[in-house]
Amino acid sequence: MTPLVEVAQAAKEYWLGKVRVPALKGVDLVVKRGEFLAIAGPSGSGKTTLLNLIGCIEMPTSGTVRIDQVDIATRSSDELAVIRAVKLGFIFQNFNLLPVLTALENVEYPLATRDISSRERRRHAQEALASVGLATFERHKPLELSGGQRQRVAIARAIVTQPLIILADEPTANLDHKTGQDILALMKSINQQRGTTFIFSTHDQKVMQMANRIVMLSDGQLARAA
Ligand SMILES: Nc1ncnc2c1ncn2[C@@H]1O[C@H](COP(=O)(O)OP(=O)(O)OP(=O)(O)O)[C@@H](O)[C@H]1O
Ligand SMILES: [Mg+2]
Repeated sequence: MTPLVEVAQAAKEYWLGKVRVPALKGVDLVVKRGEFLAIAGPSGSGKTTLLNLIGCIEMPTSGTVRIDQVDIATRSSDELAVIRAVKLGFIFQNFNLLPVLTALENVEYPLATRDISSRERRRHAQEALASVGLATFERHKPLELSGGQRQRVAIARAIVTQPLIILADEPTANLDHKTGQDILALMKSINQQRGTTFIFSTHDQKVMQMANRIVMLSDGQLARAA
């Protein structure tokens, strides 16, 4: 089966004034459909940068990034926005929920541009929220939820569009250890039940061990972990 993600010799440089910051230095990574992959590595090693390339949020300075066989450098920003909306889901460290919207409205939000009725949108959002165990919290606003519940809402928002890949940048970093493990277990059950591919970054050794595969980033380069 053709891989979902193919990163080949990808490098990313940032410029801070006249100082060149090499964030990634020729990374090769192939991710197959259905993987539950952790990207580990110390602060500044390039985890977020790599996730941003796979997420079509940034372009590599050199090398290629293919998502579902599409070389992202050959696509316009509008086309990349469509890839992000249709094929990718995102989960963030600080949840990134809209504070004025209820949990249900937050989950419904990514469906706003879909050509389906408002009733269908609501039904999909309700199903997604129920599948993360928050059916009775539909009307709560983010501030009326715990950290773990907020991250569940964010997971529901990520799955509501039925993406091929969910990218999660340190999804447990703002949660206590037990809640973080519960969140990872929820992500894993979605991976197993729906076949959604997950790529997540983490510092947490225990969270890392829940992955099916771990890759280690160190100073912008990838080394396979044992
Ligand atoms: N927009 C930017 N401009 C300049 N340098 C950047 C930018 N984004 C990241 N960097 C640099 O690139 C390197 C990799 O950063 P990145 O955020 O990918 O690391 P990380 O592994 O996600 O770290 P953390 O665990 O702290 O989140 C760092 O040296 C960082 O300072
Ligand atoms: Mg980071």
